Amino acid sequence: MALSLKQRAGPAIGVRVGLRPKDLVPPKVVYLASTNIHKYLEAREVMASHGLSLAFLREDVPELQGDDVAEIAAWGARWAADKWDLPILVEDTGLFIEALNGFPGPYASYVLKTIGLEGILKLLEGVEDRRAYFKTALAFCDGKGVEPVVFTGEAHGTISHEPRGSGGFGYDPIFVPEGGDGRTFAEMSKSEKNTLSHRAKAFKAFAEWFARERGLRAR
Ligand code: IMP
Repeated sequence: MALSLKQRAGPAIGVRVGLRPKDLVPPKVVYLASTNIHKYLEAREVMASHGLSLAFLREDVPELQGDDVAEIAAWGARWAADKWDLPILVEDTGLFIEALNGFPGPYASYVLKTIGLEGILKLLEGVEDRRAYFKTALAFCDGKGVEPVVFTGEAHGTISHEPRGSGGFGYDPIFVPEGGDGRTFAEMSKSEKNTLSHRAKAFKAFAEWFARERGLRAR
């Protein structure tokens, strides 16, 4: 005998209609929209040390042309949150070399792809002042239509005379951070890099703010 419609329907369990993707995300979870797995693996460790989970949303976020990493990250976070309607982080990092008046700055990615580490070392041949710093801007958007909040972190150091080490990514083999015994970031483990890095500082600032904002217990 065929069941009547009424008998086939499950019990009412009070599911709300009109839930947004962001409403389905547990309170301690945020997404990093990026194509860079290295950034994600570093940041995940920092977030975990604050009791938060970072998920990787593989997304090629378009980059606004401009010379302010905070603006680039904020624009990207708004774009990604509008697309996915999730609690989303987008980060942008620049490398600023003092003797080159801040070059490559926010164009670090293009410069690495074109002239590479060797090209940077060539530009600095015979230059004594090798000071440089990384700056990360990390923008958080809590879903579609929400204004981004931006956190920053810097790591100061010098550019080495030759590439050293096999860890990390990008400019790590030629960047010697202050406080790292003269080793490049590429000569450190991920956890060591996280005690000194621009990215770790920005994620720490975000994690502390986020925990407060969501009323989560501090770790
Ligand atoms: P973007 O934030 O992906 O635009 O990064 C700009 C450029 O800097 C890319 O070429 C990255 O590989 C490089 N980069 C970003 N973060 C780091 C880092 O922590 N260490 C070394 N290079 C980095």
